[in-house]
Amino acid sequence: MTAPLFTPVSLRDVALRNRVVIPPMCQYSAAGGMAGDYHLVHYGRLALGGAGLVILEATAVVPEGRITHGDLGIWSDAHGAALARIAAFLKAHGAAAGVQLAHAGRKASMQRPWEGNGPLSAEEIARGEAPWPIVAPSAVPLDEGWLMPAELSGDDLDALTEAFVAAARRAEAAGFDVIELHAAHGYLLHTFLSPLTNRREDAFGGDRTGRMRFPLRVARALREAWPAGKPLFVRVSAVDGLEGGITLDDTLAFAGELRALGVDVLDCSSGGLAGSATAARIRRDYGFQVGFAEAVKRETGLSTMAVGLIVDPRQADAIVAEGRADLVAVGREALADPNWAVRASRVLDGTQEPGFEAWPQQAGWWLERRE
Ligand code: FNR
Repeated sequence: MTAPLFTPVSLRDVALRNRVVIPPMCQYSAAGGMAGDYHLVHYGRLALGGAGLVILEATAVVPEGRITHGDLGIWSDAHGAALARIAAFLKAHGAAAGVQLAHAGRKASMQRPWEGNGPLSAEEIARGEAPWPIVAPSAVPLDEGWLMPAELSGDDLDALTEAFVAAARRAEAAGFDVIELHAAHGYLLHTFLSPLTNRREDAFGGDRTGRMRFPLRVARALREAWPAGKPLFVRVSAVDGLEGGITLDDTLAFAGELRALGVDVLDCSSGGLAGSATAARIRRDYGFQVGFAEAVKRETGLSTMAVGLIVDPRQADAIVAEGRADLVAVGREALADPNWAVRASRVLDGTQEPGFEAWPQQAGWWLERRE
């Protein structure tokens, strides 16, 4: 019997060979937002490793929406074309191809994590990586010493909605099967949703309905622009883990609205709203966010993806078997072992001998015959 984790699933017209998803993970390795050989090899290797869906990292819909100078972008047709060969490779090797559409909001214009994870410094500026003006729903900086974001005007919101739509069209032209809208981790759309960062007094702030208005507008515009046969995912921080921040109740309300407008999967992460000095109180343990995916699925009927410290094949399989989520994302563990999915299929299907059938034949043929 095929393990639940390896049972194929169709989302609209897109068939996934299994439920293992590589979640978006920034590589900070682009120049001018363009995908290059690094990205083809990195994402290609993850497709060869057997995942059902590989979602490319946060990809900025406008240049100012990048977190760092190394982020991917999709703000021109040339950027789309650079991504197209990655999508083609993923699909040629059996994985569905996804891309996360993003705007970093007040967490834009930062150092790469391994260069300090703070505001850009004199050192980066000296080598040509200058900071740029940043935007947010309200003029609330991430922390002390960070850039002050400018409050977005109504016209800016119209332009941003258009930028997301143009990005979706480029993703379609590039051959992607799935787009995921990034509304988590303290980036632009999350800061609209959270009362801690949205202090607007217009229609896009105030109560929960007002705070959801812009993220819902973008999701609706994407749903209209993205082909009806292709699924749309949204990633949220299900809770802020901060006094006065987003609660699971808020997320259930948001999920219900997203479901009504045709979103297919809610990818349930958490946290990331504040700077390190006011870090969220969210206990991180194995599968610590699975309960959010489970609650959203149960309470709203929306399909969900579980993510966060899911490392073991049996743990991942149980999440699907118990109906807690439809898809399981494996991030860092797949960075440690890009073959995570094919190895997991072998662990879960102990009856199969010699057990390397699921591997790409360039590796599997040899492994079957290994003495
Ligand atoms: C991430 N994460 C992330 N999330 C997201 O929504 N967009 C992104 O671009 C990134 N970038 C990113 C880079 C790197 C290097 C890591 C490790 C993580 C979060 C990621 O998708 C995932 O939610 C977390 O890593 C938790 O899952 P794991 O790694 O415990 O399986």
